[in-house]
Amino acid sequence: MKKPTTTTPIPTNRIVTLDEFIIRSEKDFDYATGELTGLLRDIGVAAKIVNREVNKAGLVNITGAADGAANTSGDTQQKLDVYANEKLIECLQNSGECCAIASEENDDIQLIPPVGSKKSHYVVMFDPLDGSSNIDVNVSVGTIFAIYRRHSSADGPATVDDFLQTGLKQVAAGYVLYGTSTILVYTTGRGVNAFTLDPSIGEFCLSHRNMRIPNNGKFYSVNQGYYSKFDLEMRRYIDHCSDQNYGLRYIGSMVSDIHRILIQGGIFLYPSTRKYPKGKLRLLYECNPLAFIVEQAGGKAINSQLRRILELEPKELHQRSTIVIGSPDMVDELQAFIERYSALPL
Ligand code: AHG
Ligand code: MN
Ligand code: MN
Repeated sequence: MKKPTTTTPIPTNRIVTLDEFIIRSEKDFDYATGELTGLLRDIGVAAKIVNREVNKAGLVNITGAADGAANTSGDTQQKLDVYANEKLIECLQNSGECCAIASEENDDIQLIPPVGSKKSHYVVMFDPLDGSSNIDVNVSVGTIFAIYRRHSSADGPATVDDFLQTGLKQVAAGYVLYGTSTILVYTTGRGVNAFTLDPSIGEFCLSHRNMRIPNNGKFYSVNQGYYSKFDLEMRRYIDHCSDQNYGLRYIGSMVSDIHRILIQGGIFLYPSTRKYPKGKLRLLYECNPLAFIVEQAGGKAINSQLRRILELEPKELHQRSTIVIGSPDMVDELQAFIERYSALPL
C-alpha cells in the first residue's frame, strides 16, 4: 500500500546508487519496516553475482545444459539457470527478509527459514535466467522477479496461496538484463527506474529516471517461425505489421525484447500455438512482473482474450498465459484485430 505523500526527492546532480535510491524511496510506503528495502537489496546483490558468472560464462565450464536436468515445465535446464537460481535463493535466505520463494526452476515453493526472531511478510517469485537458450551464443539474458505480501499469518509457514495472487497485488517487480551493459529495472508502483551497473565501482547507479514507454513504435516482436501455427487474428496482425513496414525484432529472451520496447516503443506477442495452446510464457514470474513494469511506464499488457494480464486469477505456480504487451497504441491496434477476427468468444 502506498502513502499519498510526495516522493522523497532523489538528487539529480550526483551519482545515486540503487541502495541509496531504495532507502530514500522506502519512506513512501506504509509498511516501511525495511523488509522490502532489504529484499530489493538482496536481489541487487544476487544480480551482481549472476552478472559476474554470466560475463565469464565462456571462460569456465558453466555454459551448456545441466546434467540430465529439466525443470517442472519440461525445459532443459542450463547450468547457469541452476547457478542463478541457487544464488538468488542464497541471497534471499541470508537476510530472511522473505518467508518463501517460488522459481521457474523449482516444482514447488520453498520456505525460507526465519533469521533470528524476524517475521517476514513477503514472498518472492522469479525466473532466475530468462532466455537461457541464448547463453551459449553470447546473447543477452535476464532475471525477472515479483514480490508480494503474504496472505497467511506471519506466525506460520507461507503457503502456495500466498503466491497465487493477481499481478495487481505485486508490491514490487523488476528485471535485470545482462546485456551490453547490465541494468536493473524495477517498480514499486510509483513509476519505473533503471540502474546501470558501473563495474568500476561495483554499484548499480540510477541511469533512467521515471521511464515512459513511447505510445507507438516501429518494431514488432514475435517468433514469426510459428506463423502458420498462430490463430487467424494473429496472422492478420503480423501481415499488417509487414504491410506497415514495421521492423521485426525478436531476441528469444523476453526481458531483452521488453527492455527495447520500454525505451524505443513497440509490441511483443506470444500467442497460443499448437504446442502451447495456452501460451508459453509463465504468468507469475514472466508475464505479471513485466506487465506491472510496462503499465507503470504507460504501456499495456493483455492476453489473447483481451483480459488485462494483471487481473488474471492464477490457479497454479507454473501457469502459462498468452501475452500481448508494449506501447499502448500498438496494443490497442492489435486488440482491434482480435475483436475483428477471433473465432473464440471474448
Ligand atoms: P526461459 O529461458 O526462462 O525458459 O524463457 C524463455 C522464454 C522467453 O524469454 C522468450 O521470449 C521465449 O521463451 C522464447 O520462446 P521461443 O523460442 O518459443 O520463441
Ligand atoms: Mn523465462
Ligand atoms: Mn528461465
